[in-house]
Amino acid sequence: MAKYKIAWLPGDGVGVEVLEAARLVLERADFDAETIPGDVGWEFWKSEGNPLPPRTIDLLKSTDACLFGAITSKPKDEAAAELAPELRGKGLTYSSPIVGLRQLFNLHTNLRPCKAYPGNPLNLRDDIDLVVFRENTEGLYSGVEFHPVPNEVRRALAAHPKMRRFENVANEDMAISTRIFTRKGCQTILRDAFEYAKEYGYPTVTVVEKPNVIRETSGLMIREARVIAKDYPEIELWETNVDAMCMWLVKNPQDYGVLVSSNMFGDIISDLAAQIVGGLGFAAAGNIGDTYAVFEPTHGSAPKYAGQNKVNPIATIRAAKMMLDYLGEHEEAQEIEHAVAQVIAEGRVRTYDMGGTASTTQMAEAIASAIS
Ligand code: IPM
Ligand code: MG
Repeated sequence: MAKYKIAWLPGDGVGVEVLEAARLVLERADFDAETIPGDVGWEFWKSEGNPLPPRTIDLLKSTDACLFGAITSKPKDEAAAELAPELRGKGLTYSSPIVGLRQLFNLHTNLRPCKAYPGNPLNLRDDIDLVVFRENTEGLYSGVEFHPVPNEVRRALAAHPKMRRFENVANEDMAISTRIFTRKGCQTILRDAFEYAKEYGYPTVTVVEKPNVIRETSGLMIREARVIAKDYPEIELWETNVDAMCMWLVKNPQDYGVLVSSNMFGDIISDLAAQIVGGLGFAAAGNIGDTYAVFEPTHGSAPKYAGQNKVNPIATIRAAKMMLDYLGEHEEAQEIEHAVAQVIAEGRVRTYDMGGTASTTQMAEAIASAIS
């Protein structure tokens, strides 16, 4: 019997190709696992009205970790129009399976390392080594939203004097998305960020929020950060507003180490951080909880490139590497990491985003052959 059981969820579009690329590399690294394919994505939304069927959730529960490809999502009306005829008009609404998985399995920590590999022609600079910790289950992405706004919600909000300005707006002319932070949610992501900084020797943790304007939620994150920072006297706590952070990430990215933020700000700054080290073709993410984790490339399903064997598989190969680290297979993880670094440094095999002509499979094969 294999040592691990891995839920294998390619999803849509290029998700299929990049996961096959990762498979080549994992096999070469002798990763001892049974991979069990699961249904997720647009096809299942259209045919079953659910992009994340319950059987897939059961599959994840029976495995040690999950490797996830990419998912297509479309706006509400377009999604409803693509449903199988017998499912239409039943009030089914599409919601992102990855956001669902994060909440369902309480994968509270989204870990997104963004390191410049020497020799990557796409680096903004070669000395960038950032790690973004994104809170993954709360905030603006918790899905607590209203439109039209029900009367009871209006009544409750009327307790706030600033709501007076909106008094004469009709329920259907108003939409509300809530930004809910819990103390525990803040503490968990902050603790993970500091622990990581300590383990890997990063001298600073920068908490990225906007407490001068969003006083209560961003304020809670900052206040908790100051408390937790006291347990790590060797690490400096920096506090930077999210707008300024975008500017600093372009101007002086080499000054930063671990960044920690809430769900939406973390989503935004992690794309920016990815771009300065080569773009989404290099960006991997771990969605990590206390007992389970899902690893994925940060990019989407790229329908434009689907089936062309063209996109850069490095993001997914790095996601697979992160999965090995999570499982405690650090030696195999290091082998993959070195192989990726070597192929990038040599510069002989480059996908289209890097200015080359190598296919997804050729890049994966080059990385696999670089594993000793
Ligand atoms: C990401 C993506 C997702 C997110 C989308 C696909 C729902 O942008 O993982 O960063 O917003 O979390
Ligand atoms: Mg994103």
